[in-house]
Amino acid sequence: MAKLWAGRFQKETDRTVNDFNSSVMFDCRMYAEDIQGSMAHAAMLGRQGIIPKEDAEAIREGLKGILADIEAGNIHFSPEAYEDIHMANEQLLTERIGDAGKRLHTARSRNDQVALDMRLYVRKQIGELRGLVLELMEVLCTLAEGNMETVMPGYTHLQRAQPITFAHHLMAYANMLKRDVRRLENCLDGLDELPLGSGALAGTTYPIDREFVAGELGFSAVMDNSLDGVSDRDYCIELCSSLSILMMHLSRLSEEVILWCSWEFKFIELDDAYSTGSSIMPQKKNPDVCELIRGKTGRVYGDLQTLLTFMKGLPLAYNKDMQEDKEAVFDAIDTVKNCLKVFAPMLATMTVLPANMELAARKGFLNATDCADYLTKRGLPFRDAYKAVGTLVHVCMETGNTLDTLPLEEYQKICPAFEEDVYQAIDLMTCVKERKSLGGPAPEEVARQLGKIKAFLTKKEQEI
Ligand code: ARG
Repeated sequence: MAKLWAGRFQKETDRTVNDFNSSVMFDCRMYAEDIQGSMAHAAMLGRQGIIPKEDAEAIREGLKGILADIEAGNIHFSPEAYEDIHMANEQLLTERIGDAGKRLHTARSRNDQVALDMRLYVRKQIGELRGLVLELMEVLCTLAEGNMETVMPGYTHLQRAQPITFAHHLMAYANMLKRDVRRLENCLDGLDELPLGSGALAGTTYPIDREFVAGELGFSAVMDNSLDGVSDRDYCIELCSSLSILMMHLSRLSEEVILWCSWEFKFIELDDAYSTGSSIMPQKKNPDVCELIRGKTGRVYGDLQTLLTFMKGLPLAYNKDMQEDKEAVFDAIDTVKNCLKVFAPMLATMTVLPANMELAARKGFLNATDCADYLTKRGLPFRDAYKAVGTLVHVCMETGNTLDTLPLEEYQKICPAFEEDVYQAIDLMTCVKERKSLGGPAPEEVARQLGKIKAFLTKKEQEI
């Protein structure tokens, strides 16, 4: 098929170059945004008297028809037929409505056109991504609500450290996801300017009305510099960076779920529908979903690297390198959506095993800090109390005791300030319930955290 730009050329494009250059196989997913942008552009051209009003109307009608046909699956995009989605829509339009179609590209370049389409596409996708993150937060809240008093070990260095509750642990992730939502929203702010009207790089001599187009397409401002307008892919990088951080969070939780469902922990059991078996070991039940999410995190980081790397050496303004933004951004979006769609129901359906969590919390001297605090509350300086309890832990280990089973005489040998009520003070439930400091694991405090996240979710639902 002859290229729209064939006039200057004496030869046909080499077949391999044609396929290498063409992006229609992946950018065709922006068909609706391309049509939306062209409709607004055509309306502006008509209003400004740059093209006849009837032509503007014919263009809009023609584009509507193309949209319907693409959606009905009647149009086949192939590199033989089309270079990219922008050329495809214009070619299709001209085939359908003749000369009026040839007027659509007045005062516009593919450079500002693709800059616009990509913004419109990313804007829409951010809305969907944000919705999926909010759904995952809902699942975490529901799980937390059911586990406000489920005591488990909290870890540092993956060593049992202090007792917390499962709800407290889950709310940590809810807070991370809340920041992810904010980051996604920041990306929306970052792309909220219209690039169309930048032309190829240096604007245009036509009396265009960029504010009108911005209004039609829901942008709050117009990009201020035409070179920047066609060269800016910051918002793609911001999106992939936000998605990388989001994936890092999903990956950390995945890693924990993998640990939790191992026989070594057995804190949870995944639903059969969300786990997989082994081809040889009949007993196996594997957390493949979590492992894939952990693995795909690397892939999204890779997408971010792709963008950062190909952009770093580009002189202004447009360079074809920038066509590489599509596959990276699309891949990051698809990957994150797929992960969120499977992760939320996987968490919602897993069985929590509170008895095993509590059992683990009873071993490992998780109440040692509380034991030291007991002495501090009786007037000992914390360092001295710390030392005394360190010695107690040593005695326990020598005698096969825990702090709960060690006889009072042993306590008093090391520090006479210990009395019978120490056992109450170091009881696991007391340790959790007394950690009422702001942000701590005490059920009443986690309830406050939960209330805040739920209020956030309600507010976001109203905004959507
Ligand atoms: N397919 C191209 C892209 O994705 C569209 C812009 C082409 N512009 C150009 N001057 N060749 O970047």
